[in-house]
Amino acid sequence: VHLFLSFLLGLLLVSSPAGVPVQPMWYLHCTRYSWINLYMTWNKAQQFCRVNYTDLVSIRNEGENVEIMKKAQGSPFWIGLFNDPWKWSDGAQSKFKKWKNWEPNNWNLNEKCVEIRPDGTWNDADCSLQKQFICSQSK
Ligand SMILES: *[C@@H]1O[C@H](CO)[C@@H](O)[C@H](O)[C@H]1NC(C)=O
Repeated sequence: VHLFLSFLLGLLLVSSPAGVPVQPMWYLHCTRYSWINLYMTWNKAQQFCRVNYTDLVSIRNEGENVEIMKKAQGSPFWIGLFNDPWKWSDGAQSKFKKWKNWEPNNWNLNEKCVEIRPDGTWNDADCSLQKQFICSQSK
């Protein structure tokens, strides 16, 4: 039931005043999510979110993962998880993880940032790659 409610809430779209360009955005519980259609390194994406929103997105349960995954249907993009050990950019304490099989593998000892793939699973990736991302804004 909780998952179903999350779906419904996720469908609540927000419209913008005419003429004001905004990124696609939606709400889940009390968090506003914005999918940012710009390609940035993980660190630049974090900066972008912290200045313009609250932070890179945290994913704390399966319902949130499903909602966020829907935005990843084109290509993988950054989420707020990073290494040493794995922690969330916004300080979320969630232990929820959705790794793809055999991930994280820290390929070349150079994969410290996490992307979500179109199927909703997570992969550790090179932070210097440029990807789209989702910012969250808590209210
Ligand atoms: C905040 O958003 C503006 C407009 O999209 C962008 O030009 C700027 O670079 C962003 N700030 C950071 C620190 O990324």
